[in-house]
Amino acid sequence: MPDSSEKFVAAIDQGTTSSRCIIFDQDGAIVAVDQREHRQIFPKPGWVEHDATEIWSKVQAVVAGAIAKAGLRADQLSALGITNQRETTVLWDRATGKPVHNAIVWQDTRTSALCNELGGADGQDRFREQTGLPLASYFSGPKAAWLLDNVPGLRARAERGEIAFGTIDSWLIWNLTGGTDGGKHVTDVTNAGRTMLMNLETLQWDQSILSAMNVPEAVLPEIRSSAEVYGTAVGQLSGVPVASALGDQQAAVFGQACYDTGTAKNTYGTGSFLLLNTGNRPVPSKSGLLTTMGYKIGSEAPVYCLEGSIAITGALVQWFRDQLGIIRNADEIEALAASVDDNGGAYIVPAFSGLYAPYWRSDARGVVTGLTRYVTKAHLARAVLEATSWQTREVVDAMYQDSGVRITTLKVDGGMTKNNLLMQHQADVLGVPVIRPKVSETTCLGAAYAAGLATGVWNDLDELKAHWQQDVEWSPRMDAASRDREFHNWHKAVERSFGWLE
Ligand code: G3P
Repeated sequence: MPDSSEKFVAAIDQGTTSSRCIIFDQDGAIVAVDQREHRQIFPKPGWVEHDATEIWSKVQAVVAGAIAKAGLRADQLSALGITNQRETTVLWDRATGKPVHNAIVWQDTRTSALCNELGGADGQDRFREQTGLPLASYFSGPKAAWLLDNVPGLRARAERGEIAFGTIDSWLIWNLTGGTDGGKHVTDVTNAGRTMLMNLETLQWDQSILSAMNVPEAVLPEIRSSAEVYGTAVGQLSGVPVASALGDQQAAVFGQACYDTGTAKNTYGTGSFLLLNTGNRPVPSKSGLLTTMGYKIGSEAPVYCLEGSIAITGALVQWFRDQLGIIRNADEIEALAASVDDNGGAYIVPAFSGLYAPYWRSDARGVVTGLTRYVTKAHLARAVLEATSWQTREVVDAMYQDSGVRITTLKVDGGMTKNNLLMQHQADVLGVPVIRPKVSETTCLGAAYAAGLATGVWNDLDELKAHWQQDVEWSPRMDAASRDREFHNWHKAVERSFGWLE
């Protein structure tokens, strides 16, 4: 049983495939973890949905699970932080608390045509100056517009103020703080920034974009900072301050202690997301990156990032396992890939839903190139892993072009970082050391840190920075000539992925 004077902070990470609750102690060490998966719903090719009600019940279950495993009572938690899959869009009825449709997930491509239409003569960059984002089906605003146009009667109800819009952070905070009985309808700048409806300078909803996308302001939550008390939880967490919200990639920036301008992290999950802290000013991208929020602590100045979003990295390993059946579980890929010295000339470009950064090509589709009779499943296993490191190399190069900042080490986290072969290849193709911290649950840790800062568990960023400890470092070993030759081959393969969708 923990000492009663110790302070604990809980964090909920509501991700694309599962929900987790982790409880941390005051040193930032993990006390207990609970996790549950939820259903992935694929109504049509390219469409991906989640049931927001199921997500809420899984979140409640993991909170109960983590508290029980920690041997704590809710009143021993100083704060609760929220982090979440970004862009996934929920609309719900304020009076009943019920979602009006399944949530549309970030990966869903149903709004591609709408985005093309919205771009008109200005194309993909129509709203880039205000939002930092290219028009793409990835973001929430067009998803909300699609729902308002396609769920019968919804637009009129929305205009009457009966409907609430939220990314998953808003949906959870509203439910945690009372739902139909006084729940707070808020979001934070990192999540609001991914709707394509928030102005990066004012940190408020942008009226011109709301009218271009035909989204009524009455549905929108209030935009708040990432670390402040939004309200007090009811139910099983009764009395606990709900004190942070950050999109998962921004929470990982915070958990990796990337507080200084020029520091960066890469998280390897379903996709990979590399974020570079660019300080208190948004840096526009000319190289296919997103200009996005990093975090905002209470009334302090906001911190911005450049982001390289890669849609498919870990999901390619899943495809190799589930669709091709070459391996039985994801961990087997490392031994299979290590049984050969190289990729045998094969490259796989996983443009399964087009390519995100730095290309933003919705017409791209996956390709395998360089096949000869020599190529075995082991070479393909290598090509699967190498696709992750080459895509990361492309976004690191784009970061340099946009910011002039040369990354000297890369902090990494996420499930794929336990694959040594991949991490070694990542260091090789970047030509810089790759470093994984001791607490690799950086997403939850970041949400906990922000909630703890807002409630006085921790005093400042220096205190949090002191918690960060290195676990493993991979140093580059590949010679420059091989690296350049391989990168050239990768580019040739990427070019072959373009133009498949007429
Ligand atoms: O932008 C999408 C990202 O937030 C999803 O992250 O870890 O839930 O796959 P994850």
